[in-house]
Amino acid sequence: PLVKGKQLVDIAERNGFAVGAFNVNNLEIIKAIIESAQEERSPAILQASQGAIKYAGIDFIVAMVKAASEQVDVPLALHLDHGTSFEQNMQCIRKGFTSVMFDGSKYSLEENIHKTRQVVQVGQAAGVSVEGELGKIAGTEDDISVDEREAFMTDPKEAERFMRETEVDYLAVAIGTAHGPYKGEPKLDFDRLKKIRELTEAPIVMHGASGVPEESIKKGIELGVRKINIDTELRQAFTSGLKGVISEKPEEYDPRKLLGPAKDSMKEVIKEKMRLFGSSGKV
Ligand code: G3H
Ligand code: 13P
Ligand code: ZN
Ligand code: NA
Repeated sequence: PLVKGKQLVDIAERNGFAVGAFNVNNLEIIKAIIESAQEERSPAILQASQGAIKYAGIDFIVAMVKAASEQVDVPLALHLDHGTSFEQNMQCIRKGFTSVMFDGSKYSLEENIHKTRQVVQVGQAAGVSVEGELGKIAGTEDDISVDEREAFMTDPKEAERFMRETEVDYLAVAIGTAHGPYKGEPKLDFDRLKKIRELTEAPIVMHGASGVPEESIKKGIELGVRKINIDTELRQAFTSGLKGVISEKPEEYDPRKLLGPAKDSMKEVIKEKMRLFGSSGKV
């Protein structure tokens, strides 16, 4: 069934693990996630980005995720990833998302608090969880200097104020992770994460988790990370599964016989992540 995002994060908080939040764009990806969740007895968050909404459309995403969630007995949530406006957040709440994100990281602290708070007020009334973002999570392709990197990171004191004034259910932070594949190994600022967690007591969201080494993921969870966003590694698994079957069977023309193996290779990565995050066997 589909439940409020916060309900899953609460289970994670009580048991000291993190819930995987996997990006969805089509039927095969949705199936890969729900089959993995069912087989692993793991909760999971299915999330739609701006690109996913453009590609599949909100109505298709909601309908497919709802249908999928009715076929399994593990709890799932449907989340808006990096929501850009109040209007888009409202649209997703109205259409059945059980969690949304208002990404106000491009605004000043005051503006970010103000805009995020407006979404939280509706979320609280509607029974939909809300994620906020403080600090700027870069892309691995973004050319940022060492000084910028530091300036983009979440300030723990600001985070304390942000949490108190917005009352978001979970907080996305910038501690050195980035969206996309890393060139080298990402260096995460765990001292910063520790301070943010101590001052806010918030469930922390780690974005850009594709390519983050296992040890860093584990350390993050120990320090309060409760939702972990993974997109790139799923795309890579899907595409390598697809390329594999195309090269093995070049005359295959049935899309189902190409996309089936792609889905299966994605499932392997999802299940690995669920075990690493400690969410397997928890529901
Ligand atoms: O947060 C970004 C996600 O990884 C994917 O974004 O679907 O808009 O390319 P996109
Ligand atoms: P990756 O693509 O690096 O896994 O990041 C995903 C993400 O943070 C989505 O919000
Ligand atoms: Zn993200
Ligand atoms: Na990444």
